[in-house]
Amino acid sequence: MKVIICKNKKEGANKAALLVAEQIKKKNNLVLGLATGQTMIPFYKELIKTNKRIDFLKVKTFNLDEWCGVDHNNKNSLKSFMDKYFFSKLNISRENINFLNGKSKNIKKECERYEKETNGIDLQILGIGINGHIGFNEPGTPFNSLTNKIKITKEIRELYSKEFGGFNKVPKYGLTIGIKTIMRSKKIILLAFGKSKADAVAKSLNNKSNKKIPASILQKHKDVTFILDKKAASKLE
Ligand code: GLP
Repeated sequence: MKVIICKNKKEGANKAALLVAEQIKKKNNLVLGLATGQTMIPFYKELIKTNKRIDFLKVKTFNLDEWCGVDHNNKNSLKSFMDKYFFSKLNISRENINFLNGKSKNIKKECERYEKETNGIDLQILGIGINGHIGFNEPGTPFNSLTNKIKITKEIRELYSKEFGGFNKVPKYGLTIGIKTIMRSKKIILLAFGKSKADAVAKSLNNKSNKKIPASILQKHKDVTFILDKKAASKLE
């Protein structure tokens, strides 16, 4: 496990983008697992810059999660987030972009399809929730979970109130690749910036791995790098 502490989030985002670009340079058809959230915005900005010299055309992407019941065309879908901040800004092939469909009529089958297709992620990018979640895998999710529908905690739904126009409009469920699914990625980079993430980061790394803090499972992965800014790293021992 590597922990890289950067001066600020711009430096962290840049560092992460360069690591990803390096992997694409080595393997032009890299299978890349992607995440959403505010943390990812500066990272995607930096990654887009590398597109001047790195070709993304053969890169295949799989996003971690999607809101349950939300159409990809809805402005609040995680797919729309990705289009806005990343996919629309670089030369990536549309058919190489993969997502869970939150509007699927058969959620069980949809999760099974994604579970199979995500077998072979070379590099998984992760953010971390203030409660230590990864993807939508909330505290208490078993470490052997596969792609599934998950109940989102009140604490996390509150963070999305504004975006959805009120707490009650925030979906109660999400679809997410599982913790076991994440762990089978060959390489993982987790990004966390700002003091709101300091507790989650500390609990993930200071304590023994336990399912109350989903990200703590990453201690057991053989190739994981945490890229933090000083604030997110401030409670590390
Ligand atoms: C969201 C997403 C996660 C993301 C995390 C952090 O709920 N499901 O994939 O990593 O929470 O988001 P942010 O970067 O906005 O703090």
